[in-house]
Amino acid sequence: MTTASDSRARESTGGHPDAAFIAGDTGVDTVTGAFSYSGRAIAEALVGSGRQVRTLTGHPERGTSDSLIDARPLDFDDPVRLASSLEGTTTLYNTYWVRFAHDRTDHDRAVINSQTLFRAAKRAGVQRIVHISITNPTIDSPYPYFRGKALVERSLIATELSYAVLRPAILFGGEGVLLNNIAWLLRRMPVFAVGGRGDYRVRGIHVEDLARLCMEKGSERTDSVVDAVGPESPTFVELVRLIRGAVGSRARIVHVPAAVVPPLAWMLGRALHDVLLTRDEFGAMDSGLAESSGPATGETALSVWMAANSAELGLHYANELDRHFVRNRSIPCPDRAARE
Ligand SMILES: NC(=O)c1ccc[n+]([C@@H]2O[C@H](COP(=O)([O-])OP(=O)(O)OC[C@H]3O[C@@H](n4cnc5c(N)ncnc54)[C@H](OP(=O)(O)O)[C@@H]3O)[C@@H](O)[C@H]2O)c1
Repeated sequence: MTTASDSRARESTGGHPDAAFIAGDTGVDTVTGAFSYSGRAIAEALVGSGRQVRTLTGHPERGTSDSLIDARPLDFDDPVRLASSLEGTTTLYNTYWVRFAHDRTDHDRAVINSQTLFRAAKRAGVQRIVHISITNPTIDSPYPYFRGKALVERSLIATELSYAVLRPAILFGGEGVLLNNIAWLLRRMPVFAVGGRGDYRVRGIHVEDLARLCMEKGSERTDSVVDAVGPESPTFVELVRLIRGAVGSRARIVHVPAAVVPPLAWMLGRALHDVLLTRDEFGAMDSGLAESSGPATGETALSVWMAANSAELGLHYANELDRHFVRNRSIPCPDRAARE
């Protein structure tokens, strides 16, 4: 039942029935990468709650003609246009980052691009930024990904805009890459190599839980930093065993010296015309950076999700290079299809 106070709240929150009262809310939010992975989940959650959604994307052609999302270019070389695309935005949900250095973009460049985006948001009068970072970012990290993320968080705070920082370790669900590709390998290979004891933990969050958390944080007005993590934190070898069981693989899990993993992953990546796992990604995971001691902020248990999606998991390889460097490739959402 809609009450008079609900209607008043809706008017004052720009048509968003779920949001807390936000003075000056335009009803419009902008999400980076709404046709890619987490940005897609965030945009869908926002549209579902009655928000008008714009996206800044390098792949506007991935939007469908009936899409409710207004796509604009994510062009860091044109900050004036970026700012004008952001005008009228209440909250910017920023997913922009690069997983590894490739083509003309590395992590240093991604830091500069993120700063350009924040400056454009400030110039455009954006009221709040919900920013996706990574667990355990530090300025003195040996890993450019983690160091860059720490620098970007620092730049965000320096804008003096209202902000929330969400720090996931890995995402699962939808068209996630890491778990899917482990499953793909386990389905096809007779052996699966785990670096060292494999006792480093991986605390994943379901991509739709992350989207919900983003929306929650979008409607708040206090500055916050929170780990975006689910309830389960298996060690890497437990995770591989879980996936192996879920997809009915008979691959033998073997432990190899940690130093063997990066070159092995490099060779496999070459064969797949992709980057499977970088030396830094393995090193960061091996040194415990995918773990969090914080409380669960996502509710979906990895093991439950895995059991429900085992039939589709790893049937197709998810190629990271195709996603970001090939045009006209749409990204389906397999586990959503399975749920519906
Ligand atoms: N996926 C994970 O498991 C995971 C784990 C921990 C943290 N995170 C963080 O979560 C955020 C979102 O990750 P995601 O996996 O959902 O990312 P994504 O959808 O693949 O990409 C997010 C945005 O970054 C842009 N982008 C990605 N790679 C790019 C490249 N090489 N060159 C130019 N633009 C690029 C995308 O551009 P388009 O609009 O053109 O697609 C999109 O706008 C990131 O900040 C990431 O660091 C992700």
